[in-house]
Amino acid sequence: MTSRFPEGFLWGTASAAHQVEGDNRNCDWWEFEQQPGRIANGDTSEIANDHYHRYREDFALLRELNQNAHRLSIEWSRIEPSPGEFDARQIRHYRDVLGDLREQGIEPMVTLHHFTSPTWFASKGGWSAPDAAHGFLPFVHRVVDQLGDLVGLWCTINEPTIYAANGWVFGEFPPGRKGDVIGLYRVTSNMRKAHELAYGAIKRRWPDAKVGLSHHKLLFLPASDKRRDRWAAQTSQMALDRWPVAPGQLRRIVEATSDFVGIAHYWGQMSAFDPKRPREQFIRRFNVPGRPVTDMGLSADPSWMRTVLNELRELGKPVYITENGLATGDDEWRARYITETLANVLLAIGDGVDVRGYFHWTNTDNFEWARGFGMRFGLIEVDRKSLERTIKPSGHLYGRIAAANALPD
Ligand code: BGC
Repeated sequence: MTSRFPEGFLWGTASAAHQVEGDNRNCDWWEFEQQPGRIANGDTSEIANDHYHRYREDFALLRELNQNAHRLSIEWSRIEPSPGEFDARQIRHYRDVLGDLREQGIEPMVTLHHFTSPTWFASKGGWSAPDAAHGFLPFVHRVVDQLGDLVGLWCTINEPTIYAANGWVFGEFPPGRKGDVIGLYRVTSNMRKAHELAYGAIKRRWPDAKVGLSHHKLLFLPASDKRRDRWAAQTSQMALDRWPVAPGQLRRIVEATSDFVGIAHYWGQMSAFDPKRPREQFIRRFNVPGRPVTDMGLSADPSWMRTVLNELRELGKPVYITENGLATGDDEWRARYITETLANVLLAIGDGVDVRGYFHWTNTDNFEWARGFGMRFGLIEVDRKSLERTIKPSGHLYGRIAAANALPD
């Protein structure tokens, strides 16, 4: 087996504005964080990593790690603080950010929506409101028009089903609703429309740009070979993998109009048929026995990456791994996990999947939404008091792999 990756492979990390920038006051997440009991340990994003001001330092570290790509999001609530009012200063800020990346030889992949929305949009019903997709569009047009010359890779929406489930079913994200399955489908349906409108808007303005979205692929495995457990795994998987299309039927998100398939994979779970759980569709989900459990409470295994990628082969499109990583304070595990996951990416490439790049989640330890700052996914540690950055051994390892465009022998 070759240990080399294809020529031109993108080596990057992924991040999201609200998790790193700091002082992002105009969005629904900021409000949500102020409500007692929402975030673990009473954390709030506050100054986060002050990436808004320290982006040059952060990108220099990426350069030091031989990165040739970086996925980041543009914060809608900064660009459009009230409906139809655009802040030219913020657009300039993101021009500087993207310009700096380019100067460092790092290709940006820009996400237009990564879990945060302006408070004005959220207060009108947010993504469950009937005209949500059209509410998002003016921001998209503005960004595409004024930043598009600096961007070759776009990711319209981050993880629609995770976003909708956490906000409308589990209550972990704003608006904090629980058990609202109709709301969930409204949200994913609107996000599908928003994706298609954004896809069209980008391609009309920049025909050469490559546009996709990031789909979160938690892998559901059957608890046994029994038919009812296989049904349970399939049902869990379909609920995560599909969204409503035009006349109400559900379709796989990875089949959306796009130039590439973006896939985020972190973990897997078992599914078993359980007649005692009518409220959970008669399915019991639990961690995979014998597999290590990350600090997020879910089991991980590097070999699942090959399975996830192989499912995309029939689509015949380029694939970017838009996120993959481990929440752990055990950096040696992270290093092992990276090497073994990448070995599985190589196997999938050998199987015929056209994987063009890998974005590790994440460069700097950051604000992990409802879990606060306790979760450590980063290749770079950030001291919470001084905000000083220190590259972890796993970061150096990833940097060597990127430089070699190959796994170590
Ligand atoms: C999200 C990130 C998040 C990561 C780790 C992904 O679902 O896109 O924002 O930090 O998972 O939980």
